[in-house]
Amino acid sequence: MSPQDKLVIALPKGRILDEAMPLVRAAGILPEPAFDDPKSRLLRFATNHPHIDIIRVRSFDVATFVAFGAAHLGVAGNDVLMEFDYPEIYAPLDLGIGACRLSVAEPDDLAASDDPRRWSHVRIATKYPEVTRRHFAARGVQAECVKLNGAMELAPSLGLCTRIVDLVSSGATLKANGLKEVEVLAEVTSRLIVNRAALKTRPDEMTGWIEAFRKACGG
Ligand code: PRP
Repeated sequence: MSPQDKLVIALPKGRILDEAMPLVRAAGILPEPAFDDPKSRLLRFATNHPHIDIIRVRSFDVATFVAFGAAHLGVAGNDVLMEFDYPEIYAPLDLGIGACRLSVAEPDDLAASDDPRRWSHVRIATKYPEVTRRHFAARGVQAECVKLNGAMELAPSLGLCTRIVDLVSSGATLKANGLKEVEVLAEVTSRLIVNRAALKTRPDEMTGWIEAFRKACGG
């Protein structure tokens, strides 16, 4: 089999990976030892299936690899899917992992007297400018977004933006940075995502793996 014919599964780096791997293994896909070696600089890994490779990329890039057909399957949160809204991606299965929410937060002292229903214009630091703009536009609020790729929580104290939109899980990061969650935009979990064209051209293989993941997460 040539490398181009391999089935490629894109997994997100970071904390979701720890929750995703038990499902990947339960579905019968076991990566080569280098996958679990923190010193390895490999980005693409062989598995116990000679025709399946795993790639490990940033969570936003999982969706991009799958949308362009460079990877066939992937694991991505609905936060990422909402931001990109790629028509080439089909998300058939909620894996029930990575539960968190996408929320607006602002400094504690402002939150004490603020009422989000009275906003007409907000300036927001976020990794999710599209979702944020859409969310506020739907209720007539103009959201001016400043795109950051991480550490959004720094923006209010340094005067970049009064508010942020970011993922909140335990709430510890907000608390440690003097911020309060004031509005939830979306509940988030990770989904199994597939490239629609691959589903058409390799239907048996693709539906087989979707079903294997469905069983692995008890569905
Ligand atoms: C996410 C998010 C927050 C934090 C929230 O970042 O961007 O900073 O987790 O979690 P908490 O409510 O439990 O404190 P993550 O650590 O995933 O890294 P990232 O900034 O690279 O996205």
